[in-house]
Amino acid sequence: MDSAAIAAIVDAAASLPELEDARVRLLGKKGELTGLLKQLGGMAPDERARFGAHVNALKEEAQARLDSRRATLEARAEEAALAAGWLDVTAPAKDAHRVGRLHPITLLLEEVIDHFTGLGFEIASGPEIEDEWHNFDALNIPKDHPARDVWDTFYTDRGEIPRTHTSSVQVRTLSLRKPPLRIIAPGRVFRNETIDATHHASFNQVEGLLVDRHVTVAHLKHTLETLVTRLMGRELRTRFRPAFYPFVEPGLDLDVECVFCGGRGCGVCKGSGFIELIPGGLVHPEVLRACGHDPSEWQGFAFGMGFDRMVMMRYGIDDIRRLYDGRLGLVRQF
Ligand code: FA5
Repeated sequence: MDSAAIAAIVDAAASLPELEDARVRLLGKKGELTGLLKQLGGMAPDERARFGAHVNALKEEAQARLDSRRATLEARAEEAALAAGWLDVTAPAKDAHRVGRLHPITLLLEEVIDHFTGLGFEIASGPEIEDEWHNFDALNIPKDHPARDVWDTFYTDRGEIPRTHTSSVQVRTLSLRKPPLRIIAPGRVFRNETIDATHHASFNQVEGLLVDRHVTVAHLKHTLETLVTRLMGRELRTRFRPAFYPFVEPGLDLDVECVFCGGRGCGVCKGSGFIELIPGGLVHPEVLRACGHDPSEWQGFAFGMGFDRMVMMRYGIDDIRRLYDGRLGLVRQF
Protein backbone atom coordinates (compact mmCIF):
# COMPACT_ATOMS: atom_id res chain seq x y z
CA MET A 1 0.00 0.00 0.00
CA ASP A 2 1.50 3.35 -1.04
CA SER A 3 0.38 6.90 -1.87
CA ALA A 4 -0.65 5.94 -5.41
CA ALA A 5 -2.80 3.02 -4.19
CA ILE A 6 -4.48 5.26 -1.60
CA ALA A 7 -5.17 7.92 -4.22
CA ALA A 8 -6.65 5.30 -6.59
CA ILE A 9 -9.02 3.92 -3.95
CA VAL A 10 -10.21 7.34 -2.75
CA ASP A 11 -10.54 8.96 -6.16
CA ALA A 12 -12.56 6.00 -7.47
CA ALA A 13 -15.38 6.87 -5.02
CA ALA A 14 -18.05 8.62 -7.08
CA SER A 15 -20.58 9.17 -4.28
CA LEU A 16 -20.60 9.73 -0.52
CA PRO A 17 -21.65 6.10 0.25
CA GLU A 18 -18.82 4.86 -1.99
CA LEU A 19 -16.47 7.20 -0.17
CA GLU A 20 -17.54 5.70 3.15
CA ASP A 21 -16.74 2.24 1.70
CA ALA A 22 -13.29 3.54 0.73
CA ARG A 23 -12.76 4.89 4.27
CA VAL A 24 -13.68 1.54 5.81
CA ARG A 25 -11.47 -0.29 3.30
CA LEU A 26 -8.45 1.88 4.23
CA LEU A 27 -8.93 2.98 7.82
CA GLY A 28 -11.69 0.79 9.26
CA LYS A 29 -10.94 -1.69 12.05
CA LYS A 30 -10.23 -4.37 9.46
CA GLY A 31 -8.96 -1.84 6.89
CA GLU A 32 -5.85 -2.35 4.80
CA LEU A 33 -3.77 0.36 6.53
CA THR A 34 -4.93 -0.72 9.99
CA GLY A 35 -3.94 -4.27 8.97
CA LEU A 36 -0.39 -3.12 8.21
CA LEU A 37 0.07 -2.15 11.87
CA LYS A 38 -0.55 -5.76 12.86
CA GLN A 39 2.75 -6.67 11.20
CA LEU A 40 4.57 -4.59 13.85
CA GLY A 41 4.44 -7.41 16.41
CA GLY A 42 6.93 -9.57 14.53
CA MET A 43 9.49 -6.80 13.93
CA ALA A 44 12.74 -5.78 15.62
CA PRO A 45 12.41 -2.51 17.65
CA ASP A 46 14.31 -0.40 15.07
CA GLU A 47 12.31 -1.70 12.18
CA ARG A 48 9.09 -1.32 14.18
CA ALA A 49 9.72 2.38 14.83
CA ARG A 50 10.44 3.03 11.17
CA PHE A 51 7.57 0.99 9.82
CA GLY A 52 5.14 2.42 12.43
CA ALA A 53 6.01 5.99 11.41
CA HIS A 54 5.63 5.07 7.75
CA VAL A 55 2.17 3.54 8.28
CA ASN A 56 1.06 6.51 10.41
CA ALA A 57 2.13 8.88 7.64
CA LEU A 58 0.11 6.82 5.14
CA LYS A 59 -2.93 6.91 7.45
CA GLU A 60 -2.70 10.70 7.75
CA GLU A 61 -2.41 10.99 4.01
CA ALA A 62 -5.43 8.70 3.50
CA GLN A 63 -7.48 10.82 5.93
CA ALA A 64 -6.48 14.04 4.17
CA ARG A 65 -7.43 12.58 0.79
CA LEU A 66 -10.74 11.30 2.10
CA ASP A 67 -11.56 14.75 3.53
CA SER A 68 -10.67 16.47 0.31
CA ARG A 69 -12.68 13.96 -1.78
CA ARG A 70 -15.66 14.42 0.57
CA ALA A 71 -15.54 18.19 0.05
CA THR A 72 -15.49 17.67 -3.73
CA LEU A 73 -18.38 15.19 -3.71
CA GLU A 74 -20.47 17.40 -1.39
CA ALA A 75 -19.89 20.42 -3.61
CA ARG A 76 -20.92 18.37 -6.65
CA ALA A 77 -24.08 17.16 -4.92
CA GLU A 78 -24.94 20.75 -4.03
CA GLU A 79 -24.39 21.93 -7.59
CA ALA A 80 -26.56 19.11 -8.89
CA ALA A 81 -29.33 20.04 -6.42
CA LEU A 82 -29.12 23.66 -7.48
CA ALA A 83 -29.19 22.74 -11.17
CA ALA A 84 -32.29 20.66 -10.50
CA GLY A 85 -33.85 23.78 -8.98
CA TRP A 86 -34.07 22.32 -5.50
CA LEU A 87 -32.26 23.53 -2.41
CA ASP A 88 -33.03 22.56 1.17
CA VAL A 89 -32.69 25.90 2.95
CA THR A 90 -33.39 24.21 6.28
CA ALA A 91 -30.35 21.89 6.04
CA PRO A 92 -27.74 22.45 8.77
CA ALA A 93 -24.75 24.60 7.84
CA LYS A 94 -21.63 22.83 6.61
CA ASP A 95 -19.12 21.74 9.20
CA ALA A 96 -16.71 24.68 9.07
CA HIS A 97 -13.98 22.74 10.88
CA ARG A 98 -13.51 20.48 7.92
CA VAL A 99 -12.31 23.38 5.79
CA GLY A 100 -9.24 24.30 7.80
CA ARG A 101 -6.07 22.30 8.33
CA LEU A 102 -2.86 22.83 10.19
CA HIS A 103 -0.09 24.23 8.02
CA PRO A 104 2.68 21.73 7.08
CA ILE A 105 5.20 23.87 8.98
CA THR A 106 3.07 23.55 12.15
CA LEU A 107 2.54 19.83 11.61
CA LEU A 108 6.23 19.06 11.23
CA LEU A 109 7.23 21.42 14.02
CA GLU A 110 4.95 19.53 16.39
CA GLU A 111 6.82 16.34 15.44
CA VAL A 112 10.21 17.97 15.98
CA ILE A 113 9.12 19.26 19.38
CA ASP A 114 7.77 15.84 20.33
CA HIS A 115 11.03 14.20 19.22
CA PHE A 116 13.32 16.53 21.16
CA THR A 117 11.25 16.88 24.31
CA GLY A 118 11.33 13.06 24.41
CA LEU A 119 15.14 13.36 24.52
CA GLY A 120 15.05 15.82 27.41
CA PHE A 121 15.41 19.04 25.38
CA GLU A 122 13.53 22.19 26.42
CA ILE A 123 11.96 24.69 24.02
CA ALA A 124 13.67 28.09 24.08
CA SER A 125 12.89 31.31 22.24
CA GLY A 126 14.35 34.75 21.66
CA PRO A 127 13.22 38.04 20.11
CA GLU A 128 12.87 38.34 16.34
CA ILE A 129 14.40 41.83 16.49
CA GLU A 130 17.90 41.39 17.85
CA ASP A 131 20.97 43.46 18.64
CA GLU A 132 24.34 42.94 16.99
CA TRP A 133 25.82 41.33 20.08
CA HIS A 134 23.37 38.43 20.18
CA ASN A 135 23.13 37.98 16.42
CA PHE A 136 26.84 38.38 15.62
CA ASP A 137 29.45 39.50 18.20
CA ALA A 138 28.86 36.82 20.83
CA LEU A 139 28.82 34.24 18.05
CA ASN A 140 32.47 34.97 17.29
CA ILE A 141 31.65 37.21 14.31
CA PRO A 142 33.34 40.56 15.09
CA LYS A 143 32.22 43.74 13.28
CA ASP A 144 34.99 43.76 10.67
CA HIS A 145 34.84 40.01 10.00
CA PRO A 146 34.03 39.14 6.37
CA ALA A 147 31.80 36.28 7.59
CA ARG A 148 29.20 38.93 8.49
CA ASP A 149 28.56 39.49 4.80
CA VAL A 150 27.45 35.87 4.42
CA TRP A 151 24.21 36.74 6.20
CA ASP A 152 22.27 39.21 4.05
CA THR A 153 21.20 41.32 6.96
CA PHE A 154 18.27 43.76 7.16
CA TYR A 155 18.70 46.69 9.57
CA THR A 156 15.96 48.78 11.16
CA ASP A 157 16.21 52.60 11.27
CA ARG A 158 17.46 52.24 14.83
CA GLY A 159 20.27 49.87 13.83
CA GLU A 160 18.57 46.77 15.19
CA ILE A 161 18.60 43.49 13.29
CA PRO A 162 15.66 41.30 12.34
CA ARG A 163 17.62 38.20 13.37
CA THR A 164 19.34 36.45 10.48
CA HIS A 165 19.39 33.08 12.24
CA THR A 166 18.12 31.38 15.38
CA SER A 167 21.73 31.00 16.59
CA SER A 168 21.07 34.22 18.54
CA VAL A 169 18.97 32.06 20.90
CA GLN A 170 22.13 30.05 21.69
CA VAL A 171 23.61 33.26 23.08
CA ARG A 172 20.42 34.23 24.94
CA THR A 173 20.23 30.79 26.57
CA LEU A 174 23.93 30.49 27.40
CA SER A 175 23.96 33.99 28.92
CA LEU A 176 21.11 33.14 31.29
CA ARG A 177 21.62 29.49 32.13
CA LYS A 178 24.29 27.28 33.61
CA PRO A 179 25.20 24.05 31.78
CA PRO A 180 24.36 21.24 31.46
CA LEU A 181 21.52 22.25 29.17
CA ARG A 182 19.68 21.06 26.06
CA ILE A 183 17.35 23.28 24.07
CA ILE A 184 15.78 23.61 20.68
CA ALA A 185 14.68 27.02 19.47
CA PRO A 186 12.27 27.15 16.53
CA GLY A 187 11.57 30.54 15.02
CA ARG A 188 11.37 32.93 12.09
CA VAL A 189 14.48 34.54 10.65
CA PHE A 190 14.94 37.24 8.02
CA ARG A 191 17.40 37.80 5.20
CA ASN A 192 17.64 40.29 2.37
CA GLU A 193 17.56 37.51 -0.23
CA THR A 194 16.22 37.27 -3.74
CA ILE A 195 13.23 34.97 -3.45
CA ASP A 196 13.25 31.79 -5.57
CA ALA A 197 12.16 28.14 -5.28
CA THR A 198 14.47 27.44 -2.33
CA HIS A 199 15.06 30.92 -0.84
CA HIS A 200 12.71 33.23 1.02
CA ALA A 201 13.35 36.53 2.78
CA SER A 202 11.48 35.30 5.86
CA PHE A 203 11.81 31.63 6.70
CA ASN A 204 12.04 29.27 9.67
CA GLN A 205 14.95 27.63 11.41
CA VAL A 206 15.13 25.23 14.32
CA GLU A 207 18.24 25.75 16.39
CA GLY A 208 19.54 22.98 18.63
CA LEU A 209 22.05 23.38 21.45
CA LEU A 210 23.40 20.87 23.93
CA VAL A 211 26.12 21.81 26.42
CA ASP A 212 27.54 19.26 28.81
CA ARG A 213 30.81 17.55 29.66
CA HIS A 214 32.63 15.39 27.09
CA VAL A 215 30.38 16.24 24.15
CA THR A 216 31.75 15.08 20.77
CA VAL A 217 30.86 15.17 17.08
CA ALA A 218 29.57 11.60 17.49
CA HIS A 219 26.74 12.91 19.72
CA LEU A 220 25.81 15.51 17.11
CA LYS A 221 25.97 12.97 14.28
CA HIS A 222 23.70 10.52 16.08
CA THR A 223 21.24 13.26 17.09
CA LEU A 224 20.89 14.56 13.53
CA GLU A 225 20.67 11.14 11.89
CA THR A 226 17.93 9.94 14.24
CA LEU A 227 16.09 13.22 13.71
CA VAL A 228 16.12 12.82 9.93
CA THR A 229 14.97 9.19 10.19
CA ARG A 230 12.10 10.21 12.48
CA LEU A 231 10.98 13.13 10.32
CA MET A 232 11.23 11.36 6.99
CA GLY A 233 9.75 8.10 8.33
CA ARG A 234 12.64 5.98 7.05
CA GLU A 235 16.40 5.83 6.97
CA LEU A 236 17.91 7.96 4.21
CA ARG A 237 21.54 8.02 3.13
CA THR A 238 23.39 10.88 4.83
CA ARG A 239 26.84 12.39 4.57
CA PHE A 240 28.73 14.98 6.58
CA ARG A 241 30.92 17.59 4.91
CA PRO A 242 33.28 20.00 6.67
CA ALA A 243 31.86 23.55 6.66
CA PHE A 244 32.76 26.89 8.18
CA TYR A 245 30.54 28.73 10.66
CA PRO A 246 32.42 31.09 12.99
CA PHE A 247 30.51 29.91 16.08
CA VAL A 248 31.39 26.21 15.79
CA GLU A 249 34.66 24.27 15.51
CA PRO A 250 34.70 21.90 13.79
CA GLY A 251 31.74 22.90 11.60
CA LEU A 252 29.90 20.55 9.28
CA ASP A 253 26.91 20.24 6.97
CA LEU A 254 24.65 17.21 6.98
CA ASP A 255 23.48 16.27 3.50
CA VAL A 256 20.55 13.91 3.05
CA GLU A 257 19.73 11.72 0.06
CA CYS A 258 17.42 13.64 -2.29
CA VAL A 259 13.88 12.32 -1.83
CA PHE A 260 12.78 13.79 -5.14
CA CYS A 261 14.99 11.43 -7.18
CA GLY A 262 16.05 8.76 -4.64
CA GLY A 263 19.65 9.94 -4.88
CA ARG A 264 19.97 9.47 -8.64
CA GLY A 265 20.37 13.20 -9.30
CA CYS A 266 17.68 15.66 -10.45
CA GLY A 267 16.94 19.37 -10.85
CA VAL A 268 16.14 19.86 -7.16
CA CYS A 269 19.46 18.42 -5.92
CA LYS A 270 21.29 19.87 -8.93
CA GLY A 271 22.40 16.42 -10.02
CA SER A 272 24.27 15.62 -6.78
CA GLY A 273 21.76 13.14 -5.32
CA PHE A 274 21.98 14.93 -1.96
CA ILE A 275 20.26 17.95 -0.41
CA GLU A 276 22.13 20.13 2.08
CA LEU A 277 19.87 20.04 5.10
CA ILE A 278 21.37 20.75 8.51
CA PRO A 279 24.48 22.74 9.38
CA GLY A 280 26.05 22.26 12.80
CA GLY A 281 29.21 21.64 14.76
CA LEU A 282 30.77 21.80 18.19
CA VAL A 283 30.16 25.07 20.03
CA HIS A 284 33.20 27.34 19.57
CA PRO A 285 35.15 27.98 22.82
CA GLU A 286 34.86 31.74 22.13
CA VAL A 287 31.04 31.51 22.24
CA LEU A 288 31.13 29.70 25.59
CA ARG A 289 33.61 32.28 26.90
CA ALA A 290 31.53 35.25 25.64
CA CYS A 291 28.55 33.87 27.57
CA GLY A 292 30.53 33.35 30.78
CA HIS A 293 31.37 29.63 30.68
CA ASP A 294 34.71 27.89 30.91
CA PRO A 295 35.37 25.96 27.66
CA SER A 296 37.85 23.66 29.40
CA GLU A 297 34.97 22.41 31.53
CA TRP A 298 32.06 22.51 29.09
CA GLN A 299 31.65 21.45 25.47
CA GLY A 300 28.58 21.40 23.32
CA PHE A 301 27.09 20.83 19.94
CA ALA A 302 24.78 23.11 18.00
CA PHE A 303 22.85 22.87 14.76
CA GLY A 304 20.57 25.18 12.78
CA MET A 305 18.07 23.35 10.64
CA GLY A 306 16.59 25.17 7.64
CA PHE A 307 13.08 24.15 8.59
CA ASP A 308 11.20 25.19 5.45
CA ARG A 309 13.44 22.95 3.37
CA MET A 310 12.81 20.08 5.78
CA VAL A 311 9.06 20.63 5.36
CA MET A 312 9.48 20.69 1.57
CA MET A 313 11.35 17.37 1.64
CA ARG A 314 8.83 15.73 3.93
CA TYR A 315 5.74 16.79 2.00
CA GLY A 316 7.21 16.83 -1.51
CA ILE A 317 6.75 20.58 -2.02
CA ASP A 318 9.20 21.75 -4.65
CA ASP A 319 8.82 25.52 -4.20
CA ILE A 320 9.25 27.34 -0.88
CA ARG A 321 6.83 30.07 -2.00
CA ARG A 322 3.98 27.59 -1.76
CA LEU A 323 4.47 27.53 2.01
CA TYR A 324 3.55 31.21 2.19
CA ASP A 325 1.18 32.00 -0.68
CA GLY A 326 -1.90 30.18 0.62
CA ARG A 327 -2.15 27.82 -2.34
CA LEU A 328 -1.30 24.62 -0.48
CA GLY A 329 -3.44 21.81 -1.80
CA LEU A 330 -3.03 18.15 -0.95
CA VAL A 331 0.66 17.46 -1.19
CA ARG A 332 2.52 14.22 -1.69
CA GLN A 333 4.08 12.63 1.36
CA PHE A 334 7.39 10.80 0.95
C1 FA5 B 1 23.00 29.44 9.69
O1 FA5 B 1 22.06 30.21 9.70
C2 FA5 B 1 23.66 28.99 10.96
N1 FA5 B 1 23.18 29.79 12.05
C3 FA5 B 1 23.37 27.50 11.19
C4 FA5 B 1 24.19 26.88 12.28
C5 FA5 B 1 23.69 26.78 13.56
C6 FA5 B 1 25.48 26.37 12.01
C7 FA5 B 1 24.43 26.19 14.58
C8 FA5 B 1 26.21 25.80 13.00
C9 FA5 B 1 25.70 25.69 14.30
P1 FA5 B 1 22.91 29.01 7.11
O2 FA5 B 1 23.05 30.43 6.69
O3 FA5 B 1 23.59 28.01 6.26
O4 FA5 B 1 23.48 28.78 8.61
O5 FA5 B 1 21.36 28.66 7.23
C10 FA5 B 1 20.91 27.45 7.79
C11 FA5 B 1 19.87 26.79 6.90
O6 FA5 B 1 18.80 27.70 6.67
C12 FA5 B 1 20.38 26.42 5.51
O7 FA5 B 1 20.99 25.14 5.50
C13 FA5 B 1 19.11 26.42 4.69
O8 FA5 B 1 18.44 25.17 4.81
C14 FA5 B 1 18.27 27.45 5.38
N2 FA5 B 1 18.26 28.71 4.62
C15 FA5 B 1 19.26 29.61 4.48
N3 FA5 B 1 18.86 30.66 3.73
C16 FA5 B 1 17.57 30.42 3.40
C17 FA5 B 1 16.56 31.16 2.66
N4 FA5 B 1 16.81 32.35 2.13
N5 FA5 B 1 15.33 30.60 2.53
C18 FA5 B 1 15.05 29.39 3.09
N6 FA5 B 1 15.94 28.66 3.81
C19 FA5 B 1 17.19 29.17 3.96
